[in-house]
Amino acid sequence: MGQLAVNGGAKTRTKSFPGWPVFDEREVKAVEEVVRSGRWGCLTGPNTSEFEKKFAAFQDAKYGVCIVNGTAALEVALRAVGVKAGDEVIVPPYTFIASATAVLLLGAIPVFVDIDPDTYNLDPSKIEAAITDKTKAILAVHIAGGPADMDGIMAVAKKHGLKVVEDAAQAHGAAWSGRRVGAIGDAGTFSFQASKNLTSGEGGMVVTDDPDVYAKAWSLHNVGRVPEGEWYEHRILGWNMRMTEFQTAILLAQMERLEDQMKTRDANARYLDAELSKIEGIRPLKRLPRATSHAYHLYIFRYDPKAFGGVPRSKFLQALGAEGIPCSSGYVPLYKEELFYVEPDGCPMGCAFYGRKMDYSKVHCPVCENASYNESVWLGQNVLLGTNEDMDDIARAVRKIRQNAGELADG
Ligand SMILES: Cc1ncc(COP(=O)(O)O)c(C=O)c1O
Repeated sequence: MGQLAVNGGAKTRTKSFPGWPVFDEREVKAVEEVVRSGRWGCLTGPNTSEFEKKFAAFQDAKYGVCIVNGTAALEVALRAVGVKAGDEVIVPPYTFIASATAVLLLGAIPVFVDIDPDTYNLDPSKIEAAITDKTKAILAVHIAGGPADMDGIMAVAKKHGLKVVEDAAQAHGAAWSGRRVGAIGDAGTFSFQASKNLTSGEGGMVVTDDPDVYAKAWSLHNVGRVPEGEWYEHRILGWNMRMTEFQTAILLAQMERLEDQMKTRDANARYLDAELSKIEGIRPLKRLPRATSHAYHLYIFRYDPKAFGGVPRSKFLQALGAEGIPCSSGYVPLYKEELFYVEPDGCPMGCAFYGRKMDYSKVHCPVCENASYNESVWLGQNVLLGTNEDMDDIARAVRKIRQNAGELADG
């Protein structure tokens, strides 16, 4: 009988980690109040506009517009800053698919630029080489809730006259150099989907400091209406991407816990950083000094098979899961997704439709590929809502696997 749980040994941990979402009677009461009010839509009820103001202020932004989800929020934000069909948008390949599909759905073209090996965020030093006369914007994704290098990204954008949209879907409360993310660039987007650190099941928001971007985003999400216009007056081509009062009532209640949850995640992540760093072959992602607040939507560490007797990451993950630590391998590079190859002309809808053929099979971002295929190990944000002892279990399980790696190499 092997000592590792994956080989039949005793598990390091049998208790489960804290569940998600966290809720109590506040959410129940908030939804009940909306039901009883009969004001279920955001055009008549008070919750959506209250939440827009509160959450935008929380992110140090002047304006917020609630949008049905984070993917749609990206489309709205990109269009609001002026991205049009045929434009190119710089996108990191290590992110959720929406960061690229929102670009494609506008008929624009994602151009992938590699990530930084220490943060897994867009590497500002690699952006300039990808800029062409068609480049319109940079999508700065704050991956895992760790703020991207906004100084580097904003400097390149300024030099080349590009717009910056922040994909902060995972970064509620994250801050760069003391300023919360979202409106550091021209616009930013959030997701309130079920797994996110602030959630209403589904939902999203565009934030900005620019009154014109705000007005455009508001109009785009409300079928082209303008605030001072008539009900049946549609000045631009817009979508209906409005959220409901049920969702924003829940979000207002969820916000009451957010600061405390952020503190817990932060303290546990720092503790885990210290513990895991003591184990040879394990390197947590780096937190840059200017990343003054990290949302820790994910806790990511880097695994080096060489220090584990050559055991591939897939086996390590299996073993860690068997020890009672829920974990996963994370994203594949977006340009490897089938959608970039299966459309009729050999390229996705946007590119084919606008007569440009992009051959994504030639894209090669080595840092992202190493992160995706060899190195990254993900823990979910709910794990970080546990105690120091819970974090000790994680470190203990990793140490146990390292000490007994021979069992996996042989198996
Ligand atoms: C980085 C990133 N961008 C965009 C999205 C899209 O958000 P949603 O799922 O709300 O459409 C997500 C979330 O899933 C995400 O993690």
